[in-house]
Amino acid sequence: MTFNAFEFRTVASIEMAWEGASRLGERLVALFGHRRVLMITDAGLVKTGLVGPVEESLKRAGLDVVLFDSVTADPPEEVVLACVKQGREAGAGIVLGLGGGSSLDVAKVAAICLGSDQPLEEMYGVDRVRGTRLPLVLVPTTAGTGSEVTNVAVITRDGTTKMGVVATQLYADHVLLDAALTLGLPPLHTAATGIDAMVHAIEAYTGKIRKNPLSDRLALSALPMLGANLVKACRVPSDRAAREAMLLGAMLAGQAFANSPVGLVHGMAYPLGGFFHVPHGLSNALMLGPVLRFNAVVAAPLYAELALAMGVSQGGTQAQQAEAFISFMETLMEESGLPRRLRDVGVTEDAIGKLAADAITHQRVLVNNPRSVTEEEMRSLYRQAF
Ligand SMILES: NC(=O)c1ccc[n+]([C@@H]2O[C@H](COP(=O)([O-])OP(=O)(O)OC[C@H]3O[C@@H](n4cnc5c(N)ncnc54)[C@H](O)[C@@H]3O)[C@@H](O)[C@H]2O)c1
Ligand SMILES: [Fe+2]
Repeated sequence: MTFNAFEFRTVASIEMAWEGASRLGERLVALFGHRRVLMITDAGLVKTGLVGPVEESLKRAGLDVVLFDSVTADPPEEVVLACVKQGREAGAGIVLGLGGGSSLDVAKVAAICLGSDQPLEEMYGVDRVRGTRLPLVLVPTTAGTGSEVTNVAVITRDGTTKMGVVATQLYADHVLLDAALTLGLPPLHTAATGIDAMVHAIEAYTGKIRKNPLSDRLALSALPMLGANLVKACRVPSDRAAREAMLLGAMLAGQAFANSPVGLVHGMAYPLGGFFHVPHGLSNALMLGPVLRFNAVVAAPLYAELALAMGVSQGGTQAQQAEAFISFMETLMEESGLPRRLRDVGVTEDAIGKLAADAITHQRVLVNNPRSVTEEEMRSLYRQAF
C-alpha cells in the first residue's frame, strides 16, 4: 500500500487534568513567566461561577488579570475589535480563552491582532494572516467545537455572514482539558455540542481533499467515544467518565478536522447561525440526517467503515451498513432530546432561498464534501430538514 503525501499539524501542548483549571496560574507562570493575562470569556459563564476560581488561580500565581467577558455566541467582528482594544490598552502579554467555541475563537483572533498590525478584515480566508501572535492558552468548557486544537476561528461579519480565519498562527501554545468545567453544561447544550464534535469526525473522515491516515485514526477514535457517552452525559450530567470521554473525543475530532476540514453539514449550518442564531451544534444536528443521505450516494463505503468502527454494523452490503450508520446517528439525536426540524427552532420556510444562497458561498468547506452540490440541491436539503 502506498500513501498520498500529507501534512499534519496540531497545537504544541495538551494537558488533560480533572480540576486542572484551579492550578492554571502555576502552569502559565512556568510556561511564559509573569505577565499580564487577557482572559476572554462570556458573561453567562461568569454567572455560572466557573470563571472566578480560574481568575483566582491566576492571581495566586502572581499574574495580573484583565477580564474581557463580553463574548457572544457566533461572535461578531465588533466583539473581537472591542476585546483587542481592551487588551492593547491594558498591555496584555498572554491571551487566555476560557469557554465554548465562541470565546476560544475570539481569543485566537485577538491574540493575533494584539501581536501584529494587520487589520482584521485582511485575515479572513485561508493562510492570509501575516506576522505572529501573543502567547495563547485555550481552555474549553464545552465538548465541543474542538476549537482549542484547530487553526480556524469563525467570526460573524455584517450581522449575518460567518467567515473563517484559517491560519497556522491560530494553533495555541497550550491547551487544558479539564472536564470538571463541563459538569454544569445543560443537557441540550451538551447534546448540541457533542453532535458538533461527531460531525467534525464524520466530515474529516469523508473529506474529499485532505483526508489522511492521521485524521482517519483520530476520527475513528473520536466517534465511538462520543457516540457511547453523549446520551449518558446528557442524562447524568455529573458522570465524570462520560464528561471526560466527551471532552477528549471532541478534542480528537478537532485534531482530525483541523487537518481534513469539514464539508456540507457545516456549510449549510453556518447560515442557520448567521440568520437565525440557531446554536452551532444544533444547526449541524438539524442538517446532519439529510446531508448524510445525500452524501451516501458516493460516501456509502466510508459510512460503512464508520458503522463498523462504532459497532453498529449488522453486516450486509455497503449500502446497508451505511444505512445502519445513518440510522444510529438519527436515533442518537432523537434520544439526546434536541429539536429535530428547522421549523422547531424558528426558521421560516420563506427563508430557504436566502439560506441556500448564503450556504453556496461557503466554498472553503464545500470543496471538501465527498459529493459536489448545487444551490438547488441545497434548497432541497433545507426543505427536507424543515
Ligand atoms: N474554531 C473552530 O474550529 C470551531 C469549530 C466549530 C464551531 N466553532 C464556533 O464555535 C461557536 C460555538 O461554540 P459552542 O457551541 O462551544 O458554544 P458557545 O461558546 O457559543 O457558548 C454557548 C453558551 O454556552 C454557555 N456555556 C459554555 N460552557 C458552559 C459550561 N461549562 N456550563 C454552562 N454554560 C456554558 C456559554 O456561557 C454560552 O452562553 C460558534 O461560533 C461556531 O461557529 C468554531
Ligand atoms: Fe462545528
